[in-house]
Amino acid sequence: MSTNEAKRDDRNRVVIFDTTLRDGEQCPGASMNRAEKLQVARQLARLKVDIIEAGFPIASPDDFAAVQAIASEIEGPRIAGLARCLEKDIVAAGEAVKPAGDRARVHVFLATSAIHRQYKLRKAEAEIIRLAVEGVRQAKTYVDDVQFSPEDASRTEPEFLAEVCAAVIEAGATTVNIPDTVGYAVPEQFGPLIGYLKQHVPGIDGVTIHVHCHNDLGLAVANSLAAVQHGARGVECTVNGLGERAGNCSLEEFVMALRTRADAYEGLWTGVESREIHRSSRLVSQLSGMVVQRNKAIVGANAFAHESGIHQDGMLKERSTYEIMRPEDVGISGTELVLGKHSGRHAFKAQLAKLGFVLSGEELERAYADFIALADKKKSVYDDDLVAIVQERMEETPEMYRLDYLHVSTGTVPTATVRVVKGEESFQDAATGDGPVDAAFRTLERVCGVSGRLLDYSIQAVTKGKDALGEASLRVSFDDGPAVHAKAASTDIIEASAKAYLNCLNRHLLGSKPAGDAAAAEAKGAV
Ligand code: KIV
Ligand code: ZN
Repeated sequence: MSTNEAKRDDRNRVVIFDTTLRDGEQCPGASMNRAEKLQVARQLARLKVDIIEAGFPIASPDDFAAVQAIASEIEGPRIAGLARCLEKDIVAAGEAVKPAGDRARVHVFLATSAIHRQYKLRKAEAEIIRLAVEGVRQAKTYVDDVQFSPEDASRTEPEFLAEVCAAVIEAGATTVNIPDTVGYAVPEQFGPLIGYLKQHVPGIDGVTIHVHCHNDLGLAVANSLAAVQHGARGVECTVNGLGERAGNCSLEEFVMALRTRADAYEGLWTGVESREIHRSSRLVSQLSGMVVQRNKAIVGANAFAHESGIHQDGMLKERSTYEIMRPEDVGISGTELVLGKHSGRHAFKAQLAKLGFVLSGEELERAYADFIALADKKKSVYDDDLVAIVQERMEETPEMYRLDYLHVSTGTVPTATVRVVKGEESFQDAATGDGPVDAAFRTLERVCGVSGRLLDYSIQAVTKGKDALGEASLRVSFDDGPAVHAKAASTDIIEASAKAYLNCLNRHLLGSKPAGDAAAAEAKGAV
């Protein structure tokens, strides 16, 4: 037992509340479907976070169904659903988290700052308190475990914030969360604000204080660390720091800071299984389509790479000269079990199970066929390739048109020839473009008879090596409507791009609503 473990005291445990599937998913372009959210939730359970905020059930029927599915299937962490202080929100959240039984939490929030009171809510202080108390009381009729967040707390007058907190605790809130909604706080003020609440809010010692920091000034982790030093015992964060605007407090950075600098944060600890960090980061990056910057702390590709000769020399002599954390502590093993075309169904299935994928017999057969096709093109198939294969099966992309043939010639006049199949019919055409990808997109638009505006396009290698799968991630809008998002992977990046574009065209033509549809945007806009 290490000295740190010996000192573990439950009063110093910092609860990790993961909001990757709620606040993280609000990041434009990062929306995930139900199967993808379930997959992330399974991984969060393996990461041993304490609470999973699974979504905002009122935002859309899809969000509701995803929260309900997670509450039904995931064992271990508590499952929370978000609600405004509105009856319809609380009913939706209460119903969605119900399957989690005594691990169900309803998280209600209402803005408290003067700026929000005056311009957004147009309500006086007394009315805010009345609505907050009513919201907590209503939530209590569904669950015992109710969390209240005074939105924009860091810009709220401390005296009024203390009054609101006291009132919701009196009404039965078991957790009070202090959000820095717009990432305005600085550690020197945010830490003492928590200390102030601990001193001035009657009943606060009987509840858990959480903090929820946004990263607009790049201070989300620093503010969260300051808060736990002043008595907060829950930190709300997301994998890879995913989230609105500049994102939320990054889970991996907060957890590893507390662990690596146990000397500075003496006695404070989390129950996170840090060796699952790397895998969680990869999975969230792949499923959300949000690429992790190479030099991102803890999970970036360069985080443990020592390039300079002086550093390499020091590392060879003694690792601790330049390494403050061991890569294996965050789950980077250096050796990854790889599969190849001679791997049988058994090894394939076992590896998928290790990655947390639960596939039915038929799904497994289809994924195995995709794996064999990939292994024919690529020498080694890595974990990330398997995630990409299974993810394509999870995309739930409705198919009106299926890509049957694609040929692209580059050179002075890049030209694409495309054949798509719709039911029994097939359609073929050719078009030129500014480049091979543009030519493929224009031809797809001609054969499908619809054109879109490309808002975002990114391509990233799923694994290392020249034969790596390339994953294209696109956001496209049609007739200035809400953006449609889709991804596709292939060892040929033009084919990956064309398939992703066709997925967007299909989604638009079949009228499927992405998670960020208008109703959801309206509800989410209030967060
Ligand atoms: O940033 C914020 O204030 C939120 C609340 C709903 C907690 O996300
Ligand atoms: Zn937030």
